[in-house]
Amino acid sequence: MFKIGALASGGGTNLQAILDAVELGKINGEVVSVVSNKKDAFALERAKKHNVEAVYMSRKLFKSFDEYEDALISHFKSRNVDLIILAGFMVILSAKFTDAFKNKIMNIHPSLIPSFCGKGFYGLKVHEAVLEKGVKLTGATVHFVDSTADTGPIILQKAVEVKDGDTPEVLQKRVMEEAEWIIFPEAVRLFAEGKIVIDNNIVRRVD
Ligand code: GRF
Repeated sequence: MFKIGALASGGGTNLQAILDAVELGKINGEVVSVVSNKKDAFALERAKKHNVEAVYMSRKLFKSFDEYEDALISHFKSRNVDLIILAGFMVILSAKFTDAFKNKIMNIHPSLIPSFCGKGFYGLKVHEAVLEKGVKLTGATVHFVDSTADTGPIILQKAVEVKDGDTPEVLQKRVMEEAEWIIFPEAVRLFAEGKIVIDNNIVRRVD
């Protein structure tokens, strides 16, 4: 069985989309462990509701970031995960972690990469920047994770219209509903079925 591990810091609506897709049989796999750096992250409750292991592991519990990453690596290695999803994980992982699971970590970013991404572009800040620039289309991107923020190979993208009068909150909700919750489970499904390969940093579909 294809095993999925997850890292989350907040509400976990993207995690929910994946838990639902697994439950509906759309993803041929199982979520085996959800780890959060926030004790009260609702993502942990979502995991428990689906009888998935929910673990609180904060940087604060370790002497150094290095030891924290070691603990995360051994946690997921011991669960034999085939994929780790970053479902709103607000910690930047170093090359140590990303190399330990090379091409096996996926992230969802709420813009059309390479626009509005990289250092400082997270949460509502992304949507604020989109509105400030006045672009008419935004969207979401699922990509593999390498050691730099938002630069890994792009797996799926979906565009979403920016409308007059949008606030960052309204736009964030539309991007989630019309893009994130659709393309993240879809990317996991494709990967679990062996339907994507990385060729020279470019993701290609194999059907
Ligand atoms: C989402 O907007 C996602 O794109 C970003 O962090 C947010 C997480 O939201 N990486 P949720 O915890 O999945 O609801």
